[in-house]
Amino acid sequence: MDATIFLNASQVVTCAGPARARRGTEMSQLETLTSAAVVVIGEQIAEVGPQSRLRERYRAAREIDCAGGVLTPGLVDSHTHAIFGRARSDEQERRAAGLDYMEIAKHGGGIHASVRDLRTRTEEELFSLARSRLVRLASYGITTVEVKSGYGLTLDDEVKTLRVIARLASQLPMRIIPTFLGAHEIPLEHRESDHSREAYVDLLVGEMIPRVADERLARFADVFCEKGVYTVPESRRILQAAHAHGLRLKLHADELSASGGAELAAELGATSADHLGAVSQAGIAALAESPTVATLLPGTMLFLGKTTRAPARQLIEAGVPVALATDFNPGTSPTPNLPLILTLGVSQLHLSVAEAVLAATVNGAAALAITDSVGQLTPGFSADLALFEMGDIRELPYWYGDRRCLGTWVRGKTCHPSHLRVT
Ligand code: NIG
Ligand code: FE
Repeated sequence: MDATIFLNASQVVTCAGPARARRGTEMSQLETLTSAAVVVIGEQIAEVGPQSRLRERYRAAREIDCAGGVLTPGLVDSHTHAIFGRARSDEQERRAAGLDYMEIAKHGGGIHASVRDLRTRTEEELFSLARSRLVRLASYGITTVEVKSGYGLTLDDEVKTLRVIARLASQLPMRIIPTFLGAHEIPLEHRESDHSREAYVDLLVGEMIPRVADERLARFADVFCEKGVYTVPESRRILQAAHAHGLRLKLHADELSASGGAELAAELGATSADHLGAVSQAGIAALAESPTVATLLPGTMLFLGKTTRAPARQLIEAGVPVALATDFNPGTSPTPNLPLILTLGVSQLHLSVAEAVLAATVNGAAALAITDSVGQLTPGFSADLALFEMGDIRELPYWYGDRRCLGTWVRGKTCHPSHLRVT
């Protein structure tokens, strides 16, 4: 099989280590090699080591000149809501004028606005909108992206959304992981009474989850567990049904107020608990005892103008593995820029650069249960790489908002076009 050798990187950040979530001081250990090369054979990393030795050994290999850039594992964005119709820039102005995110939702805006919009769109339209958005995400160094449904909230509209995700996964080079988020909101037509609210949960449990599982349309199920949205008992019921149908679990937990979401994620052994902007001490303790990854989304807090921050340091010190993701969505975090989220991880959440990089590679992979093949430049792992125009990995969260990614590769194939010299 043809070999490709990546040469002349100023640093090769391998993230090598155990193929599982990194916790505590493990998150500070970022293997960074100099004078190193990476050899890819087929879809996998074959070797990482001294450039002089590997160059000699793979003399016939196709060469990619990294021109002094930094080579890393492709970034993993483990939380997005990338399938939606129009932008919601109007809401940003309303927030600037003093309205709160939840107040906007109470008046039929927020998620409801995107639901009304998505229901009118064809699969084709949604596909082409999402496609160009994912291409933008890729251009920032992302090679794996989780994509949630959740703006349909009827059986047909959720299935339509998940089919769009499946088509994207089969047509784009990025690695795309689908999540069913039929419990993103209580649809307005089910909000009139407790009875009709329960009828929607019945529909999720009795029809939507079985269908999604039968058609293998999602790997994960997620719920927005929050005051004013799904309660803890409702979330438990939905996630238990998803688990019984073979789906792995995620939870939007304690985003805006402490509502027992982290505790529930830990109780159910969810793969990740996401947001945690308002997680309680009991929630942190419960996560520390569980296998659950804490996925922090600091772009959301910044965009909503919140001054509270997820307690990242406390989580890490308690031994909870932390991941960082964009939360790319039209309401609370319309950014495709994961390196910018790393900047916020360092400047707002006080992560070290090593912690931030592991949070967007190995621990992002852990939040998607794919640490056995993704997140490291280690022999046997998928050849998912990103190359950045910089001389030191510390520049990744430093040039904030800049797009320094020169190219990405997924399973050994070019994903984000690089104009690098190939010889
Ligand atoms: O992760 N919190 C729930 N879902 C999204 C927001 C979705 C929206 O406002 O459209 C989030 O912040
Ligand atoms: Fe989200």
